[in-house]
Amino acid sequence: MSRIKLPVTRYYGSKRKLITQIWDEFEKLGIEFTSTLDVFGGSGIFSYFSKTKGKSVIYNDIFKFNCINAHALIGNCFNHLSKDEALDLLEPKAGRTYKSFVAEHYKGIYFPEIENNIIDIAVQNIQHMNDLGKRNAAFYLLIQSCLIKRPYNLFHRKNLNLRTNFTGGNFGNKTTWERSFSELFERFNKELDEFCIKGVQLPIILNSSALECKASADLVYIDPPYFRKNGHVSYHSRYHFLEGLVNYDEIEVKINFNKNHHEIIINKSSEFENKDRIINDFDNLLKMHSSSIIVISYRNTGIPSIEELGNLVRKYKNNVRLISLGDYTYALSHNKVQNVEFLIIGY
Ligand SMILES: C[S@@+](CC[C@H](N)C(=O)[O-])C[C@H]1O[C@@H](n2cnc3c(N)ncnc32)[C@H](O)[C@@H]1O
Repeated sequence: MSRIKLPVTRYYGSKRKLITQIWDEFEKLGIEFTSTLDVFGGSGIFSYFSKTKGKSVIYNDIFKFNCINAHALIGNCFNHLSKDEALDLLEPKAGRTYKSFVAEHYKGIYFPEIENNIIDIAVQNIQHMNDLGKRNAAFYLLIQSCLIKRPYNLFHRKNLNLRTNFTGGNFGNKTTWERSFSELFERFNKELDEFCIKGVQLPIILNSSALECKASADLVYIDPPYFRKNGHVSYHSRYHFLEGLVNYDEIEVKINFNKNHHEIIINKSSEFENKDRIINDFDNLLKMHSSSIIVISYRNTGIPSIEELGNLVRKYKNNVRLISLGDYTYALSHNKVQNVEFLIIGY
């Protein structure tokens, strides 16, 4: 079987490495479907793969920055942005006054000062673009560049010092962090050139919370935040900075200055991120999609357990399979409990 080439994702919980295995399980069970709904879309890799497989695709995520990424990568047939337009985003324009929310409020937190200034300029140049296709592509370049420049590709800690004082270790790559924005913009623009493809029809991209998403499809893929028993960190905390960039004019009034990492409170929700309501949230979501094929990705060490989830799916589906996709314990993890990725399929 020829492998489908996939873009690299720098996203926590991305199923890029598992997607072929996941799809193989559908084929083994012989389940048939022509449309997919990716309720917790994230990097968009499930929707991207569905598109390559000729399905009608609906992508959804609670965060606008993820939806913008999805628009750029899967929401069209070609990259709307040229290399010159991409590089031009990094230049201040004569006669334009720029705000400096990132430089003023994120000094010493995520990026060095010179990069904070570039981010402020790039976002505001993007805001001035009238062509939506170009604007989404431009945000994709900025978002991917910000992710790749961060140790662990995350924003839940004030830890610029990990980058500036780096003397070795296996949590990142100093050479990559220090690449210029122009080099990265060129690279990610080429990535869009390569990976924007035609599908049977243009995917629909939705920006709702899972329980408010009214869409449906033959197969519904549910890959929610994995709720850790100890020390759960929310997706909002991990990525608030990127959500702030795509809502730039609101940043200043939405920063929680009491938090070291200056969390920007936009689109924060406790849905699927709260121990006391997570089982109810799953039950409500499964009820909403009870007439579709249901596919859930989850790990064995979280809340709820795989068995509890399987029982919830059994309330709505006659055939339920719990499938182990293998051990995903991180090399660096201090936790000795085996971390196994599961697929629960109800049909
Ligand atoms: C495990 S990740 C999904 C990863 C994705 N399947 C991939 O391969 O990249 C969970 C996603 O759910 C989104 N999310 C968190 N809470 C949500 C909610 N209540 N409704 C919809 N999306 C939510 C997060 O933004 C995150 O992108």
